This record gives sequence, structure tokens and C-alpha cells, in this order.
Amino acid sequence: AKNVVNHNDQDQGLVRPIVLGFSQLGSESAWRNANTISIREAAEEAGIELHFEDADQSQSKQFEAIRTFIKQKVDVIAIAPVIESGWEPILKEIKQAGIPLIILDRLVNVSDPSLYVTYIGSDFYEEGRKAGKYVIDKMNSRKDTVGIVELVGTEGSTPSIARGKGFRDVIKEHANLKILKSESADFTFAQGKQVMKSILTNMSNEINVLYSHNDDMALGAIEAIEEFGLRPGKDIIIISVDGTNKAFEKMAEGKINSVVECNPLLGPNLMQAVNELMQGRSLPKRIVTPESVFTETMALEEVGKRKY
Ligand code: AHR
Repeated sequence: AKNVVNHNDQDQGLVRPIVLGFSQLGSESAWRNANTISIREAAEEAGIELHFEDADQSQSKQFEAIRTFIKQKVDVIAIAPVIESGWEPILKEIKQAGIPLIILDRLVNVSDPSLYVTYIGSDFYEEGRKAGKYVIDKMNSRKDTVGIVELVGTEGSTPSIARGKGFRDVIKEHANLKILKSESADFTFAQGKQVMKSILTNMSNEINVLYSHNDDMALGAIEAIEEFGLRPGKDIIIISVDGTNKAFEKMAEGKINSVVECNPLLGPNLMQAVNELMQGRSLPKRIVTPESVFTETMALEEVGKRKY
């Protein structure tokens, strides 16, 4: 039989499925929902028993889930951490329990990297750089000030930190590109709409570009821009991150100008890592998923092909 273990005392001589405890940070976005489905499907496909907990964007709920997994004596724990800080003590509890840990999607900020085996996910810093390069190209002919609004994801989370830094590192050589406002909308449609609405009320005349850290916030912002009487994609150039179906539809309509891809389909990578771990193989400390950038001209061709 594949993907089974017979390594604990009670089960001696018997084989049973590998048990994976996965703490998902929430269900805040279309990306996250696709990520959850990918993990559930890949576990089933691999014959791995999945104990799944959704933490509703709360770090303390993630701690609770992890303690449950430890009590259940799962074979492997995987975590998609909501924010980067505050993980060291609980990671030590996992280590003391002798359970290998995989970090998925977002990173943890810990002084001892031996607390986890591998980190699987996107290069968020590179995504921010790609977004910055797009803005530089698109605004190339403008020598006067280009006003940029940045909708930031969850504060303290890896994608928010790294997408912000990558973007700034690229645009800093261009003095006329100015970030006028940078505000968190927690990666959700509702907050994207609400935050954009209030920014428009205060400075609509100065905004040339919206850089949104994810598609859900961009889609919310598009509604706010239209309700304000402006044309998304024309009066305000919009660049977003993720590459969901809905964002591609808006890009095909000319309401989003570019999307930097962030791949949520991490289930197969995770299950492969779990299997290799259980077979005693060593894993690279970092596993990065390959990703592209899409612009309006590609949108129509791609729109029906997206898997999420
Ligand atoms: O951590 C990945 C990010 O989290 C995605 O870009 C976003 O949509 C999600 O909420």
C-alpha cells in the first residue's frame, strides 16, 4: 500500500495512513479557498489522512489547532501562518513532541530555523518587484508625479511585508513614482471596497495607480472606484496579485491592467513533502513555486483556463 506508516508502538506490524494535521489560517480570499481545495484534494489523492482546521485569521486559533494535532499524535504538522511573529514557543512544543513541521504559503519569523523542516510557497518579494516593474513600464511616458495607492494585505503577514518591500525596492529609482497612501484591507473584498472608498473621498484627483496586494481587495476597490464615478483601468491603472478567475474577467474587460500570479495550488507539493519526510528523505529548506505576470493583452486568452 502507498503512503502508509507502521512506525508507532500501538500499530506495530500494522499499516495505517499517514496523518497530516494542517492549520489553515482562514478563508479570507478566493486564493485561500483554492488553496484549501487543493490541499484537501491532494491529500485524498495521496491517501493521506488530513486533519484540517480553519483559524478564521486568528493566530490563537492556530495555536489551539496545533495543540489538538499534538494530542492526536499526528505524523506531520503543516501550518499556513497568518502573521510572521509569535511562533517560537508553539514551534518548540511541536519539536518537543517529535512531530516534523512544514511551513506553507507564509513564513514564520523564528530565531531557530531547525524548528521547521521546509518552507513551501511563493516568492512574495519577487511578486512585489514584478508589480513595481509593471508600474514603471506602464508609466514610462509620464515625467510628472504619478500618485500610487497601495492596498496592503494582513499587517505582519509575509505577503504584505514582502510585496510591499519588493515594490518599493524597484520603484525607488523613479522619483516621480510616489506612494501617496498605503493602507491595510486585510486581503478581503469588503475591506478593499471600504478602504478604497475612503481614500477616494480624500484624494481622488491625485490617484493614478492602485497597487493591490491581492485580487479580492482589487475587486472591492473596483466597485468603490466605479461608484465614485471613475473608470478602473483607465482613470486609475490597477495592478493586483494572485491571478484568480474573477480578476482575469475584470482584466479582459479592461478594468484591471495587470495581475502578478501567486499560485495557491500547493496541495501536491505539500503531500509530496509529507511522503518524502515519512520515507526518511531530507528536504530542501525552501521550495519555491514558479509564477508569471499577465497583462490585458493576454487576459482574453487566459480567462477560461484559470484553475482558481
Ligand atoms: O498568502 C497568500 C495571500 O493570502 C494571497 O495573495 C491572498 O489572496 C491570501 O489571502
